[in-house]
Amino acid sequence: MSLDKKFEKLILTVSSRAALSSYYFIGKKDKLSADKAAVDTMRTILNKINMRGQIVIGEGELDKAPMLYIGEKVGTNNGPELDIAVDPLEGTNFVANNLPGALSVIAISEKSNLFNAPETYMNKISADVKEKNVVDLDYSTKKNIDNLAQYKNRRPDQLTTCILDRPRHKKIIDDLKRLKVNIKLITDGDVSGALLVTNPKYNVDLFLGIGGGPEGVLAASALDSYECFFQGKFLFDTENDKKRAKQMGIKDFNKKYDIKEIVSGDSIFCATGITTGDLVSGITIENDEFVSETLITHKSTGLKKTIQLKQKI
Ligand code: FBP
Repeated sequence: MSLDKKFEKLILTVSSRAALSSYYFIGKKDKLSADKAAVDTMRTILNKINMRGQIVIGEGELDKAPMLYIGEKVGTNNGPELDIAVDPLEGTNFVANNLPGALSVIAISEKSNLFNAPETYMNKISADVKEKNVVDLDYSTKKNIDNLAQYKNRRPDQLTTCILDRPRHKKIIDDLKRLKVNIKLITDGDVSGALLVTNPKYNVDLFLGIGGGPEGVLAASALDSYECFFQGKFLFDTENDKKRAKQMGIKDFNKKYDIKEIVSGDSIFCATGITTGDLVSGITIENDEFVSETLITHKSTGLKKTIQLKQKI
């Protein structure tokens, strides 16, 4: 097995150090610098790890992203071949405006086990449901809610759905309101949103809606460890989106992907808090040390844990 315990530690270091780098930009109204700081740190540390890594989800295409672009090779070029998905700063608005919920996120898997996702939107659904056909992207909101209520032995008004607060979700939000479902609207950060179904303490039963495709793949890697349900469908709005998708090997533009088609085999996921949010606390500094909190999952070992780490700055 190439993803041994050593990789858990290494990946934890990558996300926690990247989170620290963005931390210095909290409330500075500078999304780009906050993102760049996290990207630089992630890349520097990734390049020191003994692996033959390839970025499959990153900062975009080479022409738009000089660092951590899709296809970039990272690591010492010596060691296991790994796929790497990163979102060094998930929630750029959160850091820029000093709002809760900013994360530094990374997932790794053995080669060819993480979906190579295009930079497009994705329609997503997640729930802590073990069976198929309870919730589904193709069902109406009413059918999803009725089925989930039955599955959880609750009434619709005892369920909570998390969704990004966007005009494109008006119909879903109106439907949820009509069904008397409790709504948790989030302004950004749908990696975290999709993961709120994993533990009853978050009081979220269903996550729905359209957000970033890369964020969908990252969330799926953690949801796979929790054995939760996830489906995603990429949305290709422009001819250019379709052209890129074809180049990436996507033939059916309407395909709905199940979790196993997005992430297979073993994977490790880490999300470190930059500002405190639902999932994890943000970075705190104590003299020349910083404390980080990271949600880490490792599929093959069953690890699913929040880890607090004190490190020298
Ligand atoms: P950034 O960190 O890149 O700003 O992304 C934040 C985010 O809210 C994601 O969590 C989400 O997937 C996406 O933006 C939604 O995109 P949009 O703001 O265009 O609706």
